[in-house]
Amino acid sequence: MAAIEHVYAREILDSRGNPTVEVVLETDDGAQGLGLVPSGASTGEAEAWECRDGNKSRYNGKGVLDAVNAVNEIIAPAIIGMDATNQRALDQKMIEMDGTMNKGHLGANAILGVSLAALYAAAESADLPLYHYIGGTNAHILPVPNMNILNGGAHADSNVDIQEFMISPYGFNTFSEALRAGVEVYHTLKNVLKERHLNTGLGDEGGFAPDLQSNAEAIDLIIESIEKCGYKPGKQIGICLDAASSEFYNAKEKAYRFEGKLRDVDWMLNYYENLVHTYPIVSLEDPFAEEDWEAWQKITAVLGNEIQLVGDDLLVTNPQRLQKAIDLKAANSLLVKLNQIGTVSETLDAIELATRHSFTSMVSHRSGETPDTTIADLAVAKNTRQIKTGAPARGERIAKYNRLLEIEEELGTAAEYAGYSAFKRATKL
Ligand code: PGA
Ligand code: ZN
Repeated sequence: MAAIEHVYAREILDSRGNPTVEVVLETDDGAQGLGLVPSGASTGEAEAWECRDGNKSRYNGKGVLDAVNAVNEIIAPAIIGMDATNQRALDQKMIEMDGTMNKGHLGANAILGVSLAALYAAAESADLPLYHYIGGTNAHILPVPNMNILNGGAHADSNVDIQEFMISPYGFNTFSEALRAGVEVYHTLKNVLKERHLNTGLGDEGGFAPDLQSNAEAIDLIIESIEKCGYKPGKQIGICLDAASSEFYNAKEKAYRFEGKLRDVDWMLNYYENLVHTYPIVSLEDPFAEEDWEAWQKITAVLGNEIQLVGDDLLVTNPQRLQKAIDLKAANSLLVKLNQIGTVSETLDAIELATRHSFTSMVSHRSGETPDTTIADLAVAKNTRQIKTGAPARGERIAKYNRLLEIEEELGTAAEYAGYSAFKRATKL
């Protein structure tokens, strides 16, 4: 038992310079945990509620003092004395106190800050690294890093519609070799862009954000960079895309504004099919909008046996929405973001449910991040075999990659790199 003795929240800044919540939690055996909350830009409608003050005279309304007060004045007094190692009871208590379906009373940013801080304090109290504390003795698989090296959509000021172009270096023996290959491709891509006088400024997740002729041109440039580095596209390094299509969906027209024109579901489906059969794409996230379940069913029927179809805005790490996707055969993979659901326990529930129904899980950062590295430990703890945490640039992204290097070294001979096993299409390319 590690009884919670002290809980304190403050307002800090995230990687975009927007306010977010930090929680410090101490237990009676001297352990201390820190919970830092990330924040999205292309958020799903059904995500748990992120409490922002809306006071225009501070941070243009984005302050989080109400969430900080919810921790300090409402949550803290109610959980003092509870056992930090009983994560589920603690999370349940906060869910009950909130009393809404979407954390709409206390705020998911308040609740997650406490949930994470308790998790870290409990791990320290148990004297275990986080991945072992969460995952037990079988936590040993290092994930394939899906590195977002070209940013578009809501994360960039360019004309590229698809939000994320990621490289997945699965054809390597260890995580550190795979990471090195990915970093080399990233640096080479910069030169490839420069040669063509394209912009090398960075988007929110550290990837380059040039204006391009088409979305496919982004993939061409990446393939060229992979080859220039001496690696084999498809054989060693695959491509993952996140269309984040809710951002370019026109609900009134029931169509997608893509490359300057309104496109219907069949046009988009045909476009994706062509893309998948032209390039070594192993994973496609949010190809259709979050409420376009029928389109999701169609693409899952057509491409679901070949590639991974990841639900982010569609599923929002919510076990109920995930169950619906399982029932409807919409998507075959879960994107895992702690702050979409708001507690550690519910995040673990979502991963369990996904695994039980043969859905893969991709653990993910947000576009607004902090130096927190929980997702690195979580990916190893649950042997999810994949993670996405941006380009190998900007400290808040690098922190997660560096944490994985640390875990790999700590595990020593027990460390196993997920490699090809992360994606069903990887060995077929
Ligand atoms: P977000 O983007 O953090 O801005 O929501 C990440 C994603 O869409 O996967
Ligand atoms: Zn996404």
